[in-house]
Amino acid sequence: MKEIRKVIIPVAGWGTRSLPATKNIPKEMLPIYNKPVIQYVVEEAIRSGIKDVIFVTNRDKSVIEDHFDYNLQLEGVLERAGKLDKLKAIRDVAEMVNVMAVRQKKQLGLGHAILCAEGLVHGDPFAIMVGDDLMFGGVPGIGQLIEVYHAEKKPVVGVMEVPWDKVDKYGIIDGEEVAPGIYKVRDMVEKPKREDAPSRLAIVGRYVLTPDIFDYLKKTKPGAGGEIQLTDAMQQLARDHGMMAVRMSGMRFDAGDWAEYLSANIYFGLQDEDLRYELLSMLKNFVQFQ
Ligand code: G1P
Repeated sequence: MKEIRKVIIPVAGWGTRSLPATKNIPKEMLPIYNKPVIQYVVEEAIRSGIKDVIFVTNRDKSVIEDHFDYNLQLEGVLERAGKLDKLKAIRDVAEMVNVMAVRQKKQLGLGHAILCAEGLVHGDPFAIMVGDDLMFGGVPGIGQLIEVYHAEKKPVVGVMEVPWDKVDKYGIIDGEEVAPGIYKVRDMVEKPKREDAPSRLAIVGRYVLTPDIFDYLKKTKPGAGGEIQLTDAMQQLARDHGMMAVRMSGMRFDAGDWAEYLSANIYFGLQDEDLRYELLSMLKNFVQFQ
């Protein structure tokens, strides 16, 4: 079986949940502690053996590609100032991955965004990582799916249990648990009402798919929210050829949700030894003043 070397990261969304912060900055470039959100996503891909990143962008998102490129002027400034640790940090980002980009010229949904990248996938199996879903702890998120993909030889989605009152925000799967945390997908539905949801196992922005998904996407009609939904195309793929789901371990932060975004900042701030104690004491002060 072919290795998974490519990931499609759709980043063409407007980021309306994060306005006004995202009026002129892509939501994927908002910082979490000292790195933009998108860098965490790309680093997860790298730790899972992925070398090629395909961004599905729009006209306002070129700064995302620039982040993973050299900035020679800034490098010169840092070099002359002797700030060699910072110089290394920005060079490392430029050298992390091969970057490709394709424009999604109309915002017709996640399924449509993935279809835009077909020409860059060259018939290979590939991963998808949603650009504002962050996973931390243990085995890198997309790596957990790649493992199951190789073991089961079937496309895989990552899922996590969400509260029943949130099932209408996600793609929800109906699955048979064949090993602890591993499901054979029977069906899936995008953003169901609570009473129609087959479970509370929600798709959390991590996928490993085979290129036959593109044929399904081409036939997919607009679904939930009037958008061409990846879930609808996968539902058909699962029915025809079978598909797996893996209950992901580790923590997840949705960077488009302010409480989760701010928690992620605190989580990463606390990981830094130089910051931890000062940050904790400030947080304690905040709690006292509530
Ligand atoms: C998309 C997918 C949905 C998935 C979610 C995870 O929805 O369509 O199936 O559960 O990402 O973040 P969106 O959040 O773009 O509405």
